[in-house]
Amino acid sequence: MRAMTIPLALAAGCLFFAACATQGPVEDRPQVTARDLDEITALLRRDFHERGQAKMVRVEQDDVQRACTLHGDNPPAEVAKPLEAAQLQSIRFPAGSLVGNWKNGERIAQSGRGSMWSDKPGVQEGGSCYNCHQLSPAVEAYGTLGPSLAGFGKLRGNTPAMQRYVYGRIYNSKAYNLCSQMPRLGHAGTLNEEQIKDLVALLLDPASPVNR
Ligand code: HEC
Repeated sequence: MRAMTIPLALAAGCLFFAACATQGPVEDRPQVTARDLDEITALLRRDFHERGQAKMVRVEQDDVQRACTLHGDNPPAEVAKPLEAAQLQSIRFPAGSLVGNWKNGERIAQSGRGSMWSDKPGVQEGGSCYNCHQLSPAVEAYGTLGPSLAGFGKLRGNTPAMQRYVYGRIYNSKAYNLCSQMPRLGHAGTLNEEQIKDLVALLLDPASPVNR
């Protein structure tokens, strides 16, 4: 295997540590070829080790991640559309109401715990929503990687179609925007059905602090 070049090292950081956002516009990013990607994955398989619940599957990219990596997060429509459609198909929408309890939703949105190798498997994980979004205007510490969601329900309405969109977005953001930087929280099993419903309530319930 040839020595890892600087662009390859950057690409590896971008792939596995979500550092792309800090690397400037898509056109400035190193071009990753399928061969580079296979080499990077081989290096990671060699150097990373399973620990606790952090299994080796975490270094493998699925077809969506692979397409985004190979196209600098901006794949052509003929690549993106069928993959998005398959992601949308895989969302399991629960029967009945999609709206839970916004009070639980606020706790889940604020919690960033979970998925660490040192966590006990089965410990309920949080949504980390505030890491990337403004939600309740009363909470002053939030990340800005994602758009502000303050007033989301007031602005977008609380219709069944909007409830379905928000549930689907949280379950699998890549069904709507293939290279979305938002984690696939339902798809990956980070959040369960009840938790996603509680987050839908946080965004859409008129009584939620997001909409006051
Ligand atoms: C790592 C950052 C990140 C995290 C964590 C994150 N999001 Fe996002 N989210 C984004 C980004 C970036 C976008 C917008 C661009 C895109 O992906 O299409 C987005 C988009 C959205 C949208 C669609 C907004 C619109 O105008 O239609 C909703 C709803 C949303 N996020 C809710 C949530 C909720 C609820 C959580 C917590 C469970 C969450 N997000 C966690 C980054 C994140």
